[in-house]
Amino acid sequence: MPAAEDFLKIDYTGVMRGEHHAQGWTEEDLSALESGLNAAQNALEERRKTGGLDFSLLLGEMSEEAAEIRAFADSLRDKIDNFVVLGIGGSALGPQAVHLALNPYYFNELPVQKRRRPRLYVLDNIDPSRFAHLLDMLDLHKTVFNVITKSGSTSETMAQFLIVREKLRQVCGADYPNHIVVTTDQEKGNLLPIARKEGYHCFVIPAGVGGRFSELTPVGLLPAAVCGIDIGELLAGALAMDRRIRESRGITVNPAQLMAGTSHLAWRQGKNISVFMPYADSLKIMADWYAQLWAESLGKRLNREGREVWLGQTPVKALGVTDQHSQVQLYAEGPDDKMFTFVSVERLHPDVPIPTDESLPESVRFLGGHTLGELLAAEERATEYALTLAGRLHRRIILPEVNPYYLGQLLLLLEWETAYMGELLNINAFDQPGVEEGKRGTYALMGRPGFEEKRGAIEGMGEGRYIV
Ligand code: PA5
Repeated sequence: MPAAEDFLKIDYTGVMRGEHHAQGWTEEDLSALESGLNAAQNALEERRKTGGLDFSLLLGEMSEEAAEIRAFADSLRDKIDNFVVLGIGGSALGPQAVHLALNPYYFNELPVQKRRRPRLYVLDNIDPSRFAHLLDMLDLHKTVFNVITKSGSTSETMAQFLIVREKLRQVCGADYPNHIVVTTDQEKGNLLPIARKEGYHCFVIPAGVGGRFSELTPVGLLPAAVCGIDIGELLAGALAMDRRIRESRGITVNPAQLMAGTSHLAWRQGKNISVFMPYADSLKIMADWYAQLWAESLGKRLNREGREVWLGQTPVKALGVTDQHSQVQLYAEGPDDKMFTFVSVERLHPDVPIPTDESLPESVRFLGGHTLGELLAAEERATEYALTLAGRLHRRIILPEVNPYYLGQLLLLLEWETAYMGELLNINAFDQPGVEEGKRGTYALMGRPGFEEKRGAIEGMGEGRYIV
């Protein structure tokens, strides 16, 4: 196992009782969680053996596949200017989050000599004006579209695929299959047969890895490799965290136990909202990725025995410091129904010095000689202090820096926390029946054969009521 300094850290001071934090927990409160967490660990290890936790089980296999992914990505490097992901939910959020985290914020705007890789666009919606604008803007001869869908049948992604395929046929003629790469399940859906028939390059999403847990499969690894991210390091960080979580026990030793134990206790105490607030713009979309992971995995009507439980904790994404000027008023003085997770970065680079100017009034001059990084860290600390005084529960994940290795660790930590929470809540964290219902409703309303009854049921719900 790598040395402790090679791991991200978790600061849980903000959940513990202290002189200024009367509502925090005691050591005994944490110890009381241990037996439940150890039982969850045993159960998860058993599930992993039977293929129930493939996001962890297949990490080694993905490391082997990384060479093929990298080679394909490198082959595109000098041929194209744009790489466009068509996908939604778990097939889009991971690629966006990792790209923003590890590449410069304005990557697409960089001149090609600096970027040295194709621009990346992720079309994770079907708003026609956004779609049309992007297609108008791109030189299709210099563009590859990566259609990502686990099920191979999501209406949004399949509609995008049909539009792009048609357009590519018109513009690129017989060469059009070289402009489409498909990432999908080996068995499910219609995309793979079409891809094989028409000759697109294909990557397979392993059967047991669901959308929101699939970032470290070709879903996320291909777009990352195409835009120059070291996917070997990403996987190495993930594997290190995976081993640590599987091989250690105890709430103050095992990072997933600490995260899940504190989340679960907070939830039992009525914290129905989980705020995820990175203090780094590069991690902004990590908050969206986390929100989907937490919401879809844990928001469940039925428990494992099929009894109605209507469980879940609502994730809220926030960004420090931007949302200090938007949401923190509510966080400090509104209802005490939230658990806060901050993500801080020790080394933000490059940092930007704030100039000194002795001629300015004292109330402005004090900023000079510091850096923006110092200001960001001070703001985070001040917010944590304010929340502590208000008796709010908070914890902090600390990344030494945002690099592929630590990001791989963060992804795995949050995936494992979610799996643990599923176990503690006795629900299946890996399905999404509520989403599937909506998908079937869309098929029905769009006239897919076999869904006539559902269409009747939706239309039979009656007229809406409007004020006009
Ligand atoms: O996590 C999930 O399973 C979902 O959010 C899916 O990723 C999303 O619905 C898209 O599905 P698919 O990848 O099958 O197109």
